[in-house]
This record gives sequence, structure tokens and C-alpha cells, in this order.
Amino acid sequence: MTPESFSFLAGLVKTRSGIVLTADKGYMLETRLGPMLRREGLTGLDALALRLRSPREEALAAEVVEALTTNESSFFRDGKPFEHLRKLLPALAAARPAGQPIRIWSAACSSGQEAYSVAMVAAELGPALGGRRVEILGTDLSREMVERARDGVFTQFEVQRGLPVQMLVKHFRQEGQRWQVAPELRAMTRWQVFNLLDDARGLGRFDAIFCRNVLIYFDSPTKSRVLAMLSRMLARDGVVYLGGAETVLGLTDRLVPAPGERGVYEPARAAAHAG
Ligand SMILES: C[S@@+](CC[C@H](N)C(=O)[O-])C[C@H]1O[C@@H](n2cnc3c(N)ncnc32)[C@H](O)[C@@H]1O
Repeated sequence: MTPESFSFLAGLVKTRSGIVLTADKGYMLETRLGPMLRREGLTGLDALALRLRSPREEALAAEVVEALTTNESSFFRDGKPFEHLRKLLPALAAARPAGQPIRIWSAACSSGQEAYSVAMVAAELGPALGGRRVEILGTDLSREMVERARDGVFTQFEVQRGLPVQMLVKHFRQEGQRWQVAPELRAMTRWQVFNLLDDARGLGRFDAIFCRNVLIYFDSPTKSRVLAMLSRMLARDGVVYLGGAETVLGLTDRLVPAPGERGVYEPARAAAHAG
């Protein structure tokens, strides 16, 4: 691939998703886009870049971006955020007016393990939430991932990663080699394709936002923009959970680390009052 083709493809991915492809990612492009090249009868990445220069290739461009996302996820990933949520949910339930649901957003949900982990925490709390409804919205740039998440069907390998066996037995039904999320968990969830670079106001306000292991793929200006957007979507007493390698420091002053917690951020007082 010529350097011109690489920078064209990297520019397309960055504009459409925020994901930065560094020069050492040439091999990743070859392997991830290989099947698409063969299907489209293209001789290589230069031919793909040439074809994508046409404005009529919208669907192909979207497919390229999806193919270059990394969708790694697991149930109860990193543990701590879910322990924090277990303490937070009863407090939020007590603080909200009667009848108002608690709304949680899994903002780069991949195949859904994060959102279903949140649903299990809420289901396990049961009476501690005083009958309060918990609504979980899972969104991702990748249509394929959102469809997988909505189906709620996981392989043996996937359920073995991070999911305690008693939770598996309680909240999943075995179907041959696969495990289907139980209807009561699925009823708490909604799924939607959503790009973190887009205007999120239509999604409403959230009491907690999980936005984990996605900012790592963005440059600093994009991280700042996404964090500012998340802070606007958050209730004044809500929290944002970031991944272990992610932070708000140096990127936004609208969110600050929650005292004594790792990976948990809350609205800065001044920013919260400024609305
Ligand atoms: C590594 S997964 C993280 C999944 C989950 N949050 C976790 O921590 O296990 C990153 C996800 O971010 C999604 N993603 C990348 N860029 C995005 C964007 N601009 N808007 C929304 N989702 C994006 C990818 O499709 C991928 O599913």
C-alpha cells in the first residue's frame, strides 16, 4: 500500500469514528480488510482507497470503519466499576422522584457484556431498589455489534470470561453450545447504533454512563470532545465510568475523579451548575 493510500484510509477512519490508525497499523488493515477486498474483487488496499474516493461508496466506507473497530469485551470487566454501581444504585433510587426510572448508558457496548453485567447488578439488588425500573441503553458505532448485543446470545468461551457460574445459571438459558440472556435482563435493555462523535442529545439524560475502553483509540482533542458530551448527558449526581487506561485529567474540567475511587468520575461542581 502506498503512503498516500494509508493516509487516505486512516483519514477516513479518523473522521468517521475518531479512531487513530498509526503508521504501524498497515498489517492490521491488510488482515481486517482482506475478506472485503476479496468479496469486492479489489486487488489490494490501494484499489480500495481509490474506490472509496467516490462519494457513492458510503456503505463500503462504513463497512471499512466497522471492520477496524476493536470489539474486545467481557462480563464484569475490571470488576470495580460494578462494585461501585452496586452501592450507587440504591442511593440513586432513593434520590429520584417516585416513578422515575434509573437510566444507564453503555456508550461503546460492543457485543453487550457490559450492559448485561449492569442489568445483572440491578436484578441482584432487586428489593433494595424499591421497585424502581432500571433502563439500560447500549450503543456502539458497529451495527454488527449492536445486533449481536441485542440478540444476547453468547458462546461458552464468552460466558467463561468474568461471569460467576451462579450468575450464569440464574440469568442465562443454555441453548446447545450457546447461552441466551434471560428475558428479565433483556427487558431492561435497549440497543441502538450510535457514534460518539454525533449529537447525543436525543438519547436523554443518564444517571450513570459506562464509556470504557474506547477513548484509548482517540486522540486528545477527540477524547476532550467526547468527555464534554458525556458530562452534558449526565445527571448532577451521576457518574461516568472509564476504562483502566483512561482518564479525564488534562482533557476536560467538567468531570473530576470521584474521591477514593479509580475509574469513576463525577460532574465538577461549577460545570454541573453551569448546566
Ligand atoms: C474495546 S470495545 C469496549 C467494549 C466495552 N465498553 C468494554 O469495556 O468491554 C470498544 C468499542 O468501541 C466502539 N467504538 C469505536 N469508536 C466508536 C465511536 N466513535 N462511537 C461509538 N462506538 C465506538 C467499537 O465498535 C467497539 O465495540
